[in-house]
Amino acid sequence: MPFETQLSRCADLVEARLTRLLAADKPAPDQASRGFQPTYRLACAMRHAVLGGGKRVRPFLVMQSAALFGVPYEQSVTTAAALEAVHCYSLAHDDLPAMDDDDMRRGRPSVHKAYDEATAILAGDALLTLAFEILCHKATHDDPAIRMELVSSLARASGWAGMAGGQQLDLDAEKIADASALTIDNILHLQAMKTGALILFGCTAGTILGGASQDERRAWIDYGQNLGRAFQISDDLLDVEGSQKTVGKAVGKDDNAGKATLVSLLGVEAARAALAQSETDAIAALDRFDDKAEPLRGAARYMSRRQK
Ligand code: IPE
Ligand code: IPE
Ligand code: MG
Ligand code: MG
Ligand code: MG
Repeated sequence: MPFETQLSRCADLVEARLTRLLAADKPAPDQASRGFQPTYRLACAMRHAVLGGGKRVRPFLVMQSAALFGVPYEQSVTTAAALEAVHCYSLAHDDLPAMDDDDMRRGRPSVHKAYDEATAILAGDALLTLAFEILCHKATHDDPAIRMELVSSLARASGWAGMAGGQQLDLDAEKIADASALTIDNILHLQAMKTGALILFGCTAGTILGGASQDERRAWIDYGQNLGRAFQISDDLLDVEGSQKTVGKAVGKDDNAGKATLVSLLGVEAARAALAQSETDAIAALDRFDDKAEPLRGAARYMSRRQK
C-alpha cells in the first residue's frame, strides 16, 4: 500500500477519535436563549483547530511505532489523539498575530480569523490541557506508571525545553539583524525544539506504551531526531517552493519575516541535501527492525517529496 494511503487511513482513525473526544454538548436551551454560551464557543474553536484537516503525521508515528511493540489499538489511538491535540494547539498559537501572523491554516481560516484572538489563545490552552487529561485516562494504559511516563515525556516535549522553548528561539532569531550570525547548529537546535520534540515524542511513545528495552528506545530516539529534522527542513522548503493552494497555508513568508532556517542560511540546494541526509539517517536507525518497520521507513522517504 502506498505510504500516502497508509497515512490517510491512519488520519481517518484519528479523526474519528478526536471527533469523539471533542464532542461537546450544545448549549443548554436556557443558556442559549440568554445568549450565554461561552464554553460552546470555545468548543467550536477547539474543533475548528483540530478537526477536518491535517496530515496527522504525528499520530501516524505513534500508531505505527506502537504496533511494532504489540501495543493495543485503543492505547495507541488515544495517545496519538493526545499528541495531535498538542500539535493543533501549537498551530493555533503559531498563527496568532503576535507570532507568525498567518490567516490561513489547512486551507481554512486560522483559529483567530474564524473566531478571535482571545478565543484562539483559549482554544490552544484548552487543547494543551485536554491532551494531558486524555493521557491520564485509563484507556491510555492500565498501568499508572506508564501513563505518568507519557505525561512527563509529552510535557517536556511541549514546554520550555521543547516546542514552546523552540518557538521562543524562532521568534528571537527574527530580531537578529545579521542572519549570518546564526550557525547551522543554532538553527538545528532551534528546530529540534520547536518541531523535533513533538515528533520525537510521537516516535518514542510506542516504546513507552510497549515497555521497550533501553536499547530499542535509543534506536527510536535516533529515528525520531532525524525525522524531526527532515520534517522542518521540508516545511521550510515548502515555504519557498510550494503553492498556497496545495500547502494550505501562506507560502513565501519565512524570508520576509527573517526566519532562521537552513534554506535561508544555506540555500535550497544545500537544504535539500541536508534533508536527504536526515532521511537516510532516520532509515538507518531502524536497521534492526524487520519489514514491520517499513511504514516508518516510508515516513522518512515521504519528507523530501511531500507537497503539503
Ligand atoms: C506544520 O505541521 C507545523 C510544523 C511543525 C512545521 P504539519 O505540516 O504537520 O501540519 P498539519 O498538521 O499537517 O496541518
Ligand atoms: C512552527 O513552525 C512549528 C510549531 C511549533 C507550530 P512554522 O511556523 O514554520 O510552521 P508553519 O509553517 O506555520 O506551519
Ligand atoms: Mg512559526
Ligand atoms: Mg508558522
Ligand atoms: Mg513553516
